[in-house]
Amino acid sequence: MENLAVVVLAAGMGTRMKSDLPKVMHPLAGRPMIRHLLETVARLDPARLVVVVGPGMEALEAAVAPHPTVVQHERRGTAHAVRQARQALEGFEGTILVLYGDTPLISEATLRRLLAEREGPDNPAVVVLGFRPEDPAQYGRLVVGGEGLKAIVEWKDATPQQREITLCNSGVLALDGRRAWCLLDRVTDDNAKGEFYLTDVVALARGDGASCSFVLGAEDELLGINSRAELAAAEALVQDGLRARAMEGGATLLAPGTVWFAWDTSIGRDVVIWPQVVFGPGVVVGDGVTIKGFCHFEGCTIAEGADIGPYARLRPGAEVGGGAHIGNFVEIKKAVVEAGAKVNHLTYIGDARVGAGANIGAGTITCNYDGFNKSFTDIGEGAFIGSNSSLVAPVTVGAGAVVGAGSVITKNVGANALAVARGAQMELAGWAERFRAAKRAAKAKPE
Ligand code: UD1
Ligand code: MG
Repeated sequence: MENLAVVVLAAGMGTRMKSDLPKVMHPLAGRPMIRHLLETVARLDPARLVVVVGPGMEALEAAVAPHPTVVQHERRGTAHAVRQARQALEGFEGTILVLYGDTPLISEATLRRLLAEREGPDNPAVVVLGFRPEDPAQYGRLVVGGEGLKAIVEWKDATPQQREITLCNSGVLALDGRRAWCLLDRVTDDNAKGEFYLTDVVALARGDGASCSFVLGAEDELLGINSRAELAAAEALVQDGLRARAMEGGATLLAPGTVWFAWDTSIGRDVVIWPQVVFGPGVVVGDGVTIKGFCHFEGCTIAEGADIGPYARLRPGAEVGGGAHIGNFVEIKKAVVEAGAKVNHLTYIGDARVGAGANIGAGTITCNYDGFNKSFTDIGEGAFIGSNSSLVAPVTVGAGAVVGAGSVITKNVGANALAVARGAQMELAGWAERFRAAKRAAKAKPE
């Protein structure tokens, strides 16, 4: 949209969060809330976009890159924050859309409705996105009268009657770029918070004889995140959306409310997910995969028809091949488990390849780390690793080889060979009886 510029306000630390992390960096479904908002904004393809950040927020600047940022050195209110974008928007005469970084769930459709109203026949100077929350709490109130919107009053400045108003300010508004700076320049800090309120532009525009209006949005999209409790409420909304998306895509969730997705989780068709499964960022699950309860995934891929869990942990770089089985209390990191392989119980596979169809016995550990370096374990196709074996990397077990249970393998094993590396078993006939008899006799002897 050539005639659209967007200013995202994100300079606040979010005191109510009680955090060292800038508020808009707090994650929803595994990525900073501001990135959710920027992704929605990108779909409008604005001619310009600038994010207003606070001083020393380098991590935030990196998170919003490549979009330009301007620093608001002193937090003197939302109007003051928008003013910082003036240079970046120099000469721009279209619509300026102001968004709050702490209101990240807004949809593209809602933004388009707001913009359509702003560019509609009435040509309003300001269009505000209003909503009627279940609990109007301390949101600013929209004062409507005569022809459209008259003013926005902040909760702290509102009279008891104004606090009765249920129509609230979401914070999102669209301004006529030709009037914006003249309005913003006249905002003062003469109010309960001693801040320059962006919301004052409505009354100022009306005073100039310009019209202002509002469109209504849904509360679910307009939740402002100021506290940990509101962050949790937003997370719940995002998760519900992601669960619905997975189910619409053909996955069965036996207990949807107990499955946690990341924003980018990709789930195939005919996937069955049992209760209590958590997906971190970067997980791709193919068709027909079964995921039993209590699994935890991050940065991994699971190919079609694999059977995972319960209680499996796949860490970054885990690649599970088609039809493979990963069972309970198995951890896999930066390793490929090829098609049809089985790693069923109590095992750690890290920095490794498990060849197609190989069978890894219970309690097998790839010893990948010596305190300084990580080394690789290569297990060939169809190999059989006996239970409770340690494979001390770097080491290769050839295709079709068998490792005897309880082995500590430190040297490469050839294809189709048997390797056993454990103490040889000895047996002393009758030893146990002689031992007990001697002990009993010693006990019976008087002192
Ligand atoms: C604001 C609105 C209120 C609305 C509510 C919706 C004003 C004056 N009030 O109140 O009407 O109902 O949002 O959630 O606008 N920020 C800066 N620099 C500043 C101050 C704020 O960048 O100097 C940023 C914050 O980082 C935040 C956003 O602006 O992303 C909103 O600020 P916040 O302090 O959360 O305003 P609210 O009190 O929620
Ligand atoms: Mg807020």
